[in-house]
Amino acid sequence: MKNIILFCCFSLCSLSFLQATNTNELNSPATFTAGTNTFLLNGKPFVVRAGELHYARIPKAYWDQRIKMCKAMGMNTICIYLFWNFHEQRQGVFDFTGQKDVAEFVRLIQQNGMYCILRPGPYVCAEWDMGGLPWWLLKKQDLKVRRISDNFFMERVKTYLKEAGKQLAPLQIQDGGPIIMVQVENEYGTWGDDQKYMETMRDNIRQAGFDKVQLLRCDWSSNFFKYTLDGVTQALNFGAGSNIEEQFRKFKEMNPTAPLMCGEYWTGWFDQWGRPHETREISSFIGSLKDMMDRKISFSLYMAHGGTSFGQWAGANAPAYAPTTSSYDYNAPIDEAGNPTDKFYAIRELLKNYLQEDETLSEIPQNPEKTITIPAISFGLTANIFENLPTAKQSEKVQPMENFDQGWGSILYRKEIPACDRPQQLVLKEVHDWATVYINGKAIGSIDRRKGENSIEIPILKAAARLDILVEGMGRVNYGEAIIDRKGITEKVMLDGKEQTTWKIYCFPIDYTFQTKAKYVQKPAIGPAWYKASFILKETGYTYLDMSSWGKGMVWVNGYNLGRFWKIGPTQTLCIPGCYLKKGKNEIIVLDIDKPTKTVVTGLNHPILDRIVKIESKDGKVKKSLNLNGANPVAAGTLTSESEWKSVILSEPMTGRYFCFEALSAQNPDDRSTSVAEFEITGEDGKAISSLDWKVVYVDSEETDKAANGADKLFDLQESIIWQTKIGSKTNHPHQVVIDMGKSIKVKGFRILPRTDKRDTGKVKDYRFYLQENPFKIE
Ligand code: GLA
Repeated sequence: MKNIILFCCFSLCSLSFLQATNTNELNSPATFTAGTNTFLLNGKPFVVRAGELHYARIPKAYWDQRIKMCKAMGMNTICIYLFWNFHEQRQGVFDFTGQKDVAEFVRLIQQNGMYCILRPGPYVCAEWDMGGLPWWLLKKQDLKVRRISDNFFMERVKTYLKEAGKQLAPLQIQDGGPIIMVQVENEYGTWGDDQKYMETMRDNIRQAGFDKVQLLRCDWSSNFFKYTLDGVTQALNFGAGSNIEEQFRKFKEMNPTAPLMCGEYWTGWFDQWGRPHETREISSFIGSLKDMMDRKISFSLYMAHGGTSFGQWAGANAPAYAPTTSSYDYNAPIDEAGNPTDKFYAIRELLKNYLQEDETLSEIPQNPEKTITIPAISFGLTANIFENLPTAKQSEKVQPMENFDQGWGSILYRKEIPACDRPQQLVLKEVHDWATVYINGKAIGSIDRRKGENSIEIPILKAAARLDILVEGMGRVNYGEAIIDRKGITEKVMLDGKEQTTWKIYCFPIDYTFQTKAKYVQKPAIGPAWYKASFILKETGYTYLDMSSWGKGMVWVNGYNLGRFWKIGPTQTLCIPGCYLKKGKNEIIVLDIDKPTKTVVTGLNHPILDRIVKIESKDGKVKKSLNLNGANPVAAGTLTSESEWKSVILSEPMTGRYFCFEALSAQNPDDRSTSVAEFEITGEDGKAISSLDWKVVYVDSEETDKAANGADKLFDLQESIIWQTKIGSKTNHPHQVVIDMGKSIKVKGFRILPRTDKRDTGKVKDYRFYLQENPFKIE
């Protein structure tokens, strides 16, 4: 059916629009610069309409089709990140071949008559493991990243950028290539204000060979002024439905002659395990895009097509630790398998009205792959992890996997513990990221970093017992100060308050050969295990493996690592690109470190991206109530209605560990809800204190079913993502949230950012703020 609709579209499109491919012009040297209030291409005003694609998230066989799709959507430019850790997986060993041949991707952009914006980082964020930084940097114990003070980091960045330059600098537009701009770092304003660091990064990029091209930087409207960078034009990033006038107001005041550009206009958003699937409405997305077009503001759609974070590449956010799913569908206009969505058609419809001189809209290309279903696959062969241990390493203390030269996967910590006639508390400091604890091979429970868990009760032991702690590392944090994120157990293990020593440690890397080494046998598996099967196909195509009856782990098909699955959702499928499949015999290996309920997979012709399965009952936050009797507010007042950061200073600094923010009314008197984008506590030095150890201990209402708007969004450092009370709820003010900061802090005041999109729903007017040393009464 979908194919018939597509076919009709092709015919209509080819009648209505001419195709544009004038590749020759791009091959002779040209110029692109930031002029007065506009970009200039060969001296003429030019509005950049870019779509972001990540070559690492799209199998090479489909690069050309995805680029053509962007062109057909109305784009004239493709924006790409370069992922450092994709190319230098071992220190000093660079790979730019095959799927990693980024220069080939850029040449394809040119062959399609488009331009390219290159964003080589070194830090890129992108919901990509460690934001693109290589894991092996973490072998340096006192590593600092994105700061000039760490010589090792700075040296490695320089080497990497030089290698990137060898590949891509010849493709600058001034030399006849398609690259019109190269971005320096990524949203540095959200991280710091180290002017010297940014200047060095700019100079590194120039020295790597990008010596003629226009340089670019991107930040947010709330932080672009934190540093300045001569010779680098600026873009601002913001999401679907933003108020365009508001976003650029301060920037225009400070840069009255600069061209305006949205460096990342977020078409959707990424999904995190255990949280609702993210979507962004077409109407509000298109509204702000039209607004930008009417004002001739350049933009880049992040993402035009998200694709898949195959294998281990999906990253995580923090605080609170929230790993990203392997599907990077992103609710983008082009879906995970490369097909157009309604958002795609809406963008194409809009942009056909804004084409520039010599531009025409091209036809929508045919997807080289159809989407297929494949019959159920049952798994006869299994290999239990505990029966297939690799060689043990001895270690006095527990250590993270990086210390054993392991980048990704799981790690097992084993030791004997003595008999004990009472239950004991086992504390793991810190679990990165999901641990199962076994006594004599029997699982007694799991510890989940996402929930801030770090301990478990060991039952009475009649005799000495074998303690096994199997820890799976999920995505490394790709945003904020938690980015130094080693995997396994990072510090120590305490049993009844005593640090445990003398461990045997076993590493389970994710390399395909490692998964094939286990001894597979024909019997049902107990506990964490590999499952192997083969299946025969008469035809190949895109398919989505339904993993909903499995526990937690990874899947390899014909040696390709498809990524992570986890029964909690929201993603319940794993995408298999058609080019990973073969006619005839195919092989599949599933590693499940939890336990499946049924060891069968089926290939669906559609993904399941939005099914959250609540395994544990809710932690009861909502059911309890907060008793503020006897508590005294240390600040109270009225907030103004503008969507910008507001500061409140206490009459005198006060010390406390717990704070409560209480919203008493909304800006609109009929509005009974509350929403807040960010909340910061200002320490004695006037700067925001770290929120890494914060925990929400109480919230009267939060939307965690229809959208991912829980109270922890108050301190997730993402200004476009908000806490809001339950949508459609009839509960009234006051709305309250209580946060445990983890330790006693001397507080000068707080800063609060209301939602920054076009809506006013929930914007706080009157408030009270409480701070105290002891926990609040929650009954
Ligand atoms: C920021 C980053 C991107 C990406 C988006 C969210 O804008 O620059 O790399 O992480 O957020 O998807």
